[in-house]
Amino acid sequence: MSISPAFLDELRNRVPVSRIVGRKVTWDLRRSNQAKGDWWAPCPFHGEKTASFHVDDRKGFYYCFGCHAKGDALTFLRESDGLDFIEAVKVIASEAGLPMPERDPAEAKRADRRSVLADAMEAATRHYRMQLGTSQGAGARDYLTRRGLEQAGIDRFELGFAPDMRQGLFHALREKGMADDVIVDAGLAARPDNGGAPYDRFRGRIIFPIRDARGRVIAFGGRAMDPNARAKYLNSPETALFDKGRNLYNIAAARSAVGKGAPLIVAEGYMDVIALVLAGFEGAVAPLGTAITEDQLRLMWRISPEPVIMLDGDAAGQRAARRLIDLALPMTGPGQALRFAVLPAGTDPDDLIRAHGAGAMQKVLEEARPLVDLLWEREVEGRDFDSPERRAALDASLRKAVGLIPDEATRNHYTAALRERRFALFGGRRGAGRLTPRPGERRGAEMAPRAQTRATPLGQQDAGDMTLEAMALAICASYPGLAARVESRLELLDPADPGRAALCHDLLCGGESGAGRAALARIMEDSYVRAAPMIRQPGDPAKAAVVLSNILDKIEARRAALSELARAEAEIQGLVDEGLTWRMSESARARHRAEHPELEDSADLDEDRDALTARLAAYFDTKPSRKRR
Ligand code: UTP
Ligand code: MN
Repeated sequence: MSISPAFLDELRNRVPVSRIVGRKVTWDLRRSNQAKGDWWAPCPFHGEKTASFHVDDRKGFYYCFGCHAKGDALTFLRESDGLDFIEAVKVIASEAGLPMPERDPAEAKRADRRSVLADAMEAATRHYRMQLGTSQGAGARDYLTRRGLEQAGIDRFELGFAPDMRQGLFHALREKGMADDVIVDAGLAARPDNGGAPYDRFRGRIIFPIRDARGRVIAFGGRAMDPNARAKYLNSPETALFDKGRNLYNIAAARSAVGKGAPLIVAEGYMDVIALVLAGFEGAVAPLGTAITEDQLRLMWRISPEPVIMLDGDAAGQRAARRLIDLALPMTGPGQALRFAVLPAGTDPDDLIRAHGAGAMQKVLEEARPLVDLLWEREVEGRDFDSPERRAALDASLRKAVGLIPDEATRNHYTAALRERRFALFGGRRGAGRLTPRPGERRGAEMAPRAQTRATPLGQQDAGDMTLEAMALAICASYPGLAARVESRLELLDPADPGRAALCHDLLCGGESGAGRAALARIMEDSYVRAAPMIRQPGDPAKAAVVLSNILDKIEARRAALSELARAEAEIQGLVDEGLTWRMSESARARHRAEHPELEDSADLDEDRDALTARLAAYFDTKPSRKRR
């Protein structure tokens, strides 16, 4: 039914949100200001003792500062009572003393149809449960007992049994006066292709009724008892009642458990949910025979800001997690996070609880890790970052993943968290992925210029480099916020001196380490740094940013030239590459441009290149080739 916006406004004006919410919460009257329509209470959506749930009658909104639940009176009824939109409107209309508007006939018909189907599903649930108690159900009862399920659990989850009969349920429902079409449309029976009488969809299976958030049975899951059955589990088809991607097994009970403080746990299967609930983890849900969908994530986040995804530690479980990361990132933000609890490989929650008890499960839950951890693992696992290219590829893929997050603050926190891990990874293997080789470093020696080469004019760059580096760090330290703006370039700076490296890390992560402080003190003693007016007396940050950027340009260009030189040297020992001198001169040009930004790309540079080419030729004792120009 479509309800006009005018009618909704009328409802909003007549019924304050606090009146609807007040039925579910106990107001903190000391904190509330009734006259102003300003109310506070412990949040009904997440377990808490303090009152962080705020209702503002003037704005017609509620908001929880703890779990970020928010909305108006309609949202509240939908989320706290599981009502659908129309039902929520009805509640508020009767509160307001307003009659409901006339129903749209087509929608009324659809709603009527759904309620007829829902009746058939309830009747089927009763039928299946009854069958489990008959002599025909003896094998099924044994099976459940073997799996550790007692009567209380069977009753709680309303488990049933569909005997292996072609038309057991079909006849039973017909006897109750249900039409064939209703039985078929509810997904309980299927018509054979030849147009004969409908036959039962579930045969020889344990039946798991699936209820939606409002408690209606909308589908069934059927577990085969025959190990050779074609499908271990068979689920109801999609019907007017059942949209499998928008529901979760045990959602209604889990929601109320989460409201009382239980964690929301997302397992893979029906038996897992049952095992979890019976072991005391009552906030357990599972998708319905498919991978988790966006709609299901939304549904979870309406209940809990941080559901725990329970994963099998095997390869399939890891793959599922990886897919989920990409699905979840564009939706994450404050109050919409995920954690992942990883089970031992080849174990599901049911197995773990049966083998090791609730304590073992509790431990797994406590070790659940945030999404950012899994993202990091996904990107680095099984890969080596022993070259700048690989390291850059990692940066690019991390940036891409983080770019999916819509909320800016969340994005920034991801960046910071990933940066920490990146430092830990590269820091733990000094030299890995380093842009410039360290003097005397053995690893990657093929990339380090030899002593002879360093003695050439082109090779003599390290001393100047140290001063430039000192200046860059000093500027960052003197102008708060600047480091963050040149973050990725500062990371690439990657100082060889451990003290400077610590300082660099501090600047990037906003920390302060002893080594970093000492290095900064030394840098401030540098005569070149001390003399710089912008350090002596920090002034315009915009100007500092420009200077810093110029310095970083220089450092990068110098290093590029140096590493080109090293590479060239390595190559020259093999065959003389005709592109070599060209590449050398190109990097010299870049360096020259960086050091003399005032110069046009002109004859000056050509002169420089010619001089360089000649020097190189002399050094390598080869004939320079200009063909590549
Ligand atoms: P699992 O194969 O992990 O089964 O499927 P399980 O939950 O551990 O079940 P038991 O312990 O063997 O009885 C997990 C979920 O995947 C869906 C079902 O929803 C199941 O609960 N599934 C599995 C299907 O829909 N069809 C299948 O054939 C298998
Ligand atoms: Mn299982």
